[in-house]
Amino acid sequence: MSSPAVAVQLSEAEMRLLQALVYQECGMYFDARRTHFLQDRLQRRLRECRLDSFYSYYRLLISDEGRDELSRLLEDLTVNETSFFRNKAQMNLFHKHILDETIRRKEQGRDYQIRIWSAGCSTGQEPYTIAMLTADALAYHQLRSNASGDASWPKPLIPPPGRVEVPASDINYSVLRAGQEGIYSENQMASVDYSYRLRYFDKVGDRYAIKKSLKEVVHFDFHNLKTEFLPQRNDIIFCRNVMMYFDEAEQRRLIEKFYRCLMPGGYLLVGHAESLLGLTDRFTMVYRDNGTAYQRIEVEP
Ligand SMILES: C[S@@+](CC[C@H](N)C(=O)[O-])C[C@H]1O[C@@H](n2cnc3c(N)ncnc32)[C@H](O)[C@@H]1O
Repeated sequence: MSSPAVAVQLSEAEMRLLQALVYQECGMYFDARRTHFLQDRLQRRLRECRLDSFYSYYRLLISDEGRDELSRLLEDLTVNETSFFRNKAQMNLFHKHILDETIRRKEQGRDYQIRIWSAGCSTGQEPYTIAMLTADALAYHQLRSNASGDASWPKPLIPPPGRVEVPASDINYSVLRAGQEGIYSENQMASVDYSYRLRYFDKVGDRYAIKKSLKEVVHFDFHNLKTEFLPQRNDIIFCRNVMMYFDEAEQRRLIEKFYRCLMPGGYLLVGHAESLLGLTDRFTMVYRDNGTAYQRIEVEP
């Protein structure tokens, strides 16, 4: 079919069909403020597919042959804005209090595995920030408690017997590839101070590559938060600036899933413009120095 020269009309009914399909597939909800964005992306995809009606495009998306196109559409609809050390106050709360408490609690239980999931990780700045801060917190904890008199050099990134895993997931394959690559421009490094640059990055030309030892801690994988098959047994979950694109019903469902994906006493950290208030009574809010997090409430048996 030839590529149409003028924009194809999108009827109300077609819009509703496509909106419902996107919602059903990934939970993203396009309200009146965001329908313009949705329309623009749909027009773009229609042109790429060289189709002449949105109904044919819808038919393609729901067919077996249309699975790749559906992934492409969802990628075009996601907002991937992110940065290292995003929301400094919250990162401080995570570093100074949540990690400290988690490390102590785990040590008491002789469980040395810490798992922190970055759900909706975009191009990797969030999970790598989590990994850097966790490595620092563990090194500091070891220094303070002097648990091992081990003077070996070079020191491992995660001092034994600690084990840290940062699963990082997204619905967008392009951002997952970028995260896996772990190479960032000077602009993307703006919020990374020199002590972090020196310890956790190698300079490659005019860009910065995440060091191998840090990369080994972060595992990128595709996960659609709309589904039930999500990483389990997390001590902490970061899901920031993702829920804001979902409607209230989907937010409630996601919070329930996060509750189940967390270990007892675990923490959930959401974005600056997001909140759990009024959506659940399964978490209690923790607030310190402008940083906010939510801790899982345990019910007595
Ligand atoms: C604005 S970015 C936030 C990145 C990072 N969490 C931060 O706060 O800097 C939102 C990310 O959520 C992802 N996303 C949106 N819907 C999703 C879904 N249903 N499942 C998994 N990831 C999703 C997008 O692809 C995008 O990379």
